[in-house]
Amino acid sequence: MTLAAALLAGCSIAPPAAVPTAPSTSAPAPAPTPTPTPSASSATPTPTPTPTAEPTRTTPPKDTRKGRQLRTPYEVDGIIVVSKKHRISAGYAPPRPTGPYGLDAPVAAALKKMTSAAAKAGVRIRVRSGYRTWATQNAIFQKALRNYPQSISFYAPAGASEHQTGLAVDLWDGVTWSLPMARTATGKWLFRHAHEYGFVLRYPDGKSKITGYHYEPWHYRWIGREHALKFRGNTTTLEEYLGLA
Ligand code: DAL
Ligand code: ZN
Repeated sequence: MTLAAALLAGCSIAPPAAVPTAPSTSAPAPAPTPTPTPSASSATPTPTPTPTAEPTRTTPPKDTRKGRQLRTPYEVDGIIVVSKKHRISAGYAPPRPTGPYGLDAPVAAALKKMTSAAAKAGVRIRVRSGYRTWATQNAIFQKALRNYPQSISFYAPAGASEHQTGLAVDLWDGVTWSLPMARTATGKWLFRHAHEYGFVLRYPDGKSKITGYHYEPWHYRWIGREHALKFRGNTTTLEEYLGLA
């Protein structure tokens, strides 16, 4: 399968049944490049020089969850962490999956506010993917594993995706997807302003050893404005902020 075909195939997956009101939003992450390349780095808008976010604590609690306890996500300072190291089971569902795209209610509200602000600045923000069930994530991951294993660092295994929390969203302008999205007006606007609405760029460029995932200029995670404001410049990972890395 060519890269273009892979991307188109990715777009054909239907939205989760749990989100009947949402437009088509459940396309998986793309498979744009086999490995991080200089072009991936050049897709990053120049960050505004800002102070590094300070960790909120020095010793986070150990993640000792297992079995049925995986229905409850790991948290540090009230911030949910879902990653390859801190997984959730199929039994976990976000507490308030309301509104379009199945997002948690405060996330949906923040997204609405952010989208309106961007629109006033002449920038269009579209949601490509919001909440995804464990089963949907599993299907996406298995398909990626079969069709483009060289790009698997863009895909979370089921249980390791923030999309299952209703706290993460993939954003774009409705036209340009994958790493080039970073160079669009939408990508640049989000890079500069998303933290003002409580969203952080969850997988910054050059931090895949910490996050476990390739740079994703489209994947924004809501953590609330108070915390997100400390992420200006998008060089800090959630793991670093919480003292997990
Ligand atoms: N693309 C991100 C890592 C996910 O699948 O959740
Ligand atoms: Zn995503």
